Amino acid sequence: MKQENQKNYVNALYLQSGGPTSVINASMKGVIDGFKDNSSGNLYFSLYGVDGLINDNIISLDSLDKSKLRKLEKTPGTFLGSARHRLKPFLEDDHEYLKILEVIKKYDIHLLILNGGNDSMDTGYKLNEYFKYINYPINVVGVPKTIDNDLMITDHTPGYGSASRFIVSALASIYLDNLAYRNGKINIVEVMGRDTGWLTASCVMLQTLGMEVDLVYIPESSFDENDFLVRVNDIYARKRRGMIVVSEGIKNSDGDFVLNNKATDSFNHVQLGGVGSYLANLITSKLNIKTRAVELSVLQRSYALQASNVDIEEAYTAGYIATLGKEFNVDGMVSFTREKNYSLNYSFIPFAEVANKIKYLPLKYYDEETKQIKKSFIRYIKPLLGSLKDFKYPIL
Ligand code: F6P
Repeated sequence: MKQENQKNYVNALYLQSGGPTSVINASMKGVIDGFKDNSSGNLYFSLYGVDGLINDNIISLDSLDKSKLRKLEKTPGTFLGSARHRLKPFLEDDHEYLKILEVIKKYDIHLLILNGGNDSMDTGYKLNEYFKYINYPINVVGVPKTIDNDLMITDHTPGYGSASRFIVSALASIYLDNLAYRNGKINIVEVMGRDTGWLTASCVMLQTLGMEVDLVYIPESSFDENDFLVRVNDIYARKRRGMIVVSEGIKNSDGDFVLNNKATDSFNHVQLGGVGSYLANLITSKLNIKTRAVELSVLQRSYALQASNVDIEEAYTAGYIATLGKEFNVDGMVSFTREKNYSLNYSFIPFAEVANKIKYLPLKYYDEETKQIKKSFIRYIKPLLGSLKDFKYPIL
């Protein structure tokens, strides 16, 4: 920690954006601690993401309840509220930029920290370009966050490890439940991850618990209904039960979502959910086999009681490092590089390299023939899940 006279004088503003995770508030705690350790001046927060910035819905650190701040690291949801709000390119329409500029000037902000995923990094990119264009002296910094793990360059994203940890423990529980009857069911577990199969791939960890997932479907590989039914029929004939894990965003060979609910958000993303039930109904109607669909839904991003200690720590550190953006005079997102023996290096990468881009699960981890995640993925994911002591059920 720096002496008072060594600290940089700067006013900073932090906001949370996009879907919540179990650990986004740990990043907020990192921002608060990093700011206090390294800067003098005031730390402000925008409520409900960029909406608060546009509408001057700003609060200061001093106004927050200190007893709540102490518990931030283990609290899910977004403490400050979030938004999915897309800024138009400023050369097309700058009216929201002008409102933001007014707020930035009012609080004399020279470090802006946005905590979010690829859409939020698009907001970071656009704001950074705008401030450069008008020559306003401010550093814009991103703190990565998404359970989907689909941000470019960074080895992984805060939120992913905890969500995966929850998914693995939920799948293990469902697996044991399905052993109850001589004739079990086909359980279909639907996992989030709009465009990618990173979260779904975490099911490979069941192998380490001596359990078996029969089929895995991810958005990176096209889904064929007929082939699916043949495989399910065969599995049930052999085992009288089965477990299928499916990403919410699986697509057919035309590139269309297998289930499309049509509702979209401001980034034009379709609101997904329900494909597990759709497939369960398909099995029942075509094969007359008992099924149960389980949609893990928001539990996987909010069940912080199960959060990964590694994920919490990394989310905190990413937030802490972001507060050094002014001192290092950088713009861009904090990114992780994995070194040997799982130590992490932190650096900043340009917004343009992450904004609106998607990092897909490499197909080297997926076996198209058997519809399984390959064992090699265990090496990638295991360190992110945190301490696995006490992770197994007593009988295993
Ligand atoms: O932030 C990404 C994500 O978690 C996706 O996996 C999912 O499709 C989406 O958010 C759902 O968000 P919401 O429930 O907020 O619409």
